[in-house]
Amino acid sequence: MESIWITDVSPRDGLQNQPKHLSTHEKLALIRLLVAAGLERIEVTSFVSPSAVPQMADAADLLSLVISEFPKLQSTVLVPNLKGLERARLAGASEISVVLAATDTMNRKNINQSLADATRNCQDTVRAAKAMGMRTRTYLAVAFDCPFEGVTPVPTLLALAQQMQAVQVDEIVIADTIGSATPGRVRDCLSVLGWAIPMNQLAMHFHDTRGLAVANTWAALEAGIRRFDASAGGLGGCPFAPGAAGNLATEDLVLMAQGSGFQTNIDLGRLLDVIEFAQHKMDRPLGGRSYSWLALQKQKGDLDPRGLSQGQSDA
Ligand code: COA
Ligand code: ZN
Repeated sequence: MESIWITDVSPRDGLQNQPKHLSTHEKLALIRLLVAAGLERIEVTSFVSPSAVPQMADAADLLSLVISEFPKLQSTVLVPNLKGLERARLAGASEISVVLAATDTMNRKNINQSLADATRNCQDTVRAAKAMGMRTRTYLAVAFDCPFEGVTPVPTLLALAQQMQAVQVDEIVIADTIGSATPGRVRDCLSVLGWAIPMNQLAMHFHDTRGLAVANTWAALEAGIRRFDASAGGLGGCPFAPGAAGNLATEDLVLMAQGSGFQTNIDLGRLLDVIEFAQHKMDRPLGGRSYSWLALQKQKGDLDPRGLSQGQSDA
């Protein structure tokens, strides 16, 4: 059976924009539940300015605690610049992501730099991280549309991806920051990027603003992508991109992928525990498109942890 690789970004993308701030120990409890559900890759936090994103002020403490409790977990963290990289290194990071938005305005809003400066900054940060022996990812943010500049042309995206490839970034994450992609646009975008970048070096990061994240994921799967970001319960959104809603929900991704013959090793029943915990802490309902159905199956004792319906299991 073919596998897909999921990075659960709920402790970072999920929590960075919430009015309710979790304590370091509450974040650790969330990560414990994600690990218990079978997640092997988690974006733990971001080493950004605490005045820009106060929710992530405890990045160093949280990452150290996560590494010592889960040494085998592939923890990844977001860093906006060399200062963030140095903070991440001191806390023990072995993998980082930088964020390069595809438009000038979005870079200015997000990291206070022009597109040209942001590109150099991301290249320098990736080079330095690689010299430290870290694995590196680049988010290409607002990859489909920018809330300030409109449609992102595919050739613009391709040029930025190639600039990051030039510094040997290990993974390029195509991020639909405001959730405006459609399956047709995903197919068209990947048919161009796929000429220049190996599919196993690309990942997709969808938001579910318009309810199309699962359909977009399917289009990416058909194009050959096997790496996806998602967040439990669809928790998430970017504080600097108006209109950005929650991420593709991990439970929707797992249900769709496992029911379509891909392996994820994630236990859906246990994933519901993560969502229940997050709902309790956020004091509001969460959950992707499939959450109510999954919760009902669990209540009835009918939930196959792999999300397979009767007649679909391998037995
Ligand atoms: N972590 C902590 N502090 C940082 C930092 C980092 N990675 N980078 C810079 N700083 C500090 C500087 O040391 C400086 O502190 P001082 O005033 O005490 O001297 C202050 O922040 C301003 O530094 P400057 O380089 O002028 O940064 P800026 O004000 O232009 O802000 C960023 C740039 C990148 C630090 C800030 O915009 C940021 O953190 N953005 C994060 C965006 C984000 O998380 N978006 C969501 C994810 S996509
Ligand atoms: Zn995001």
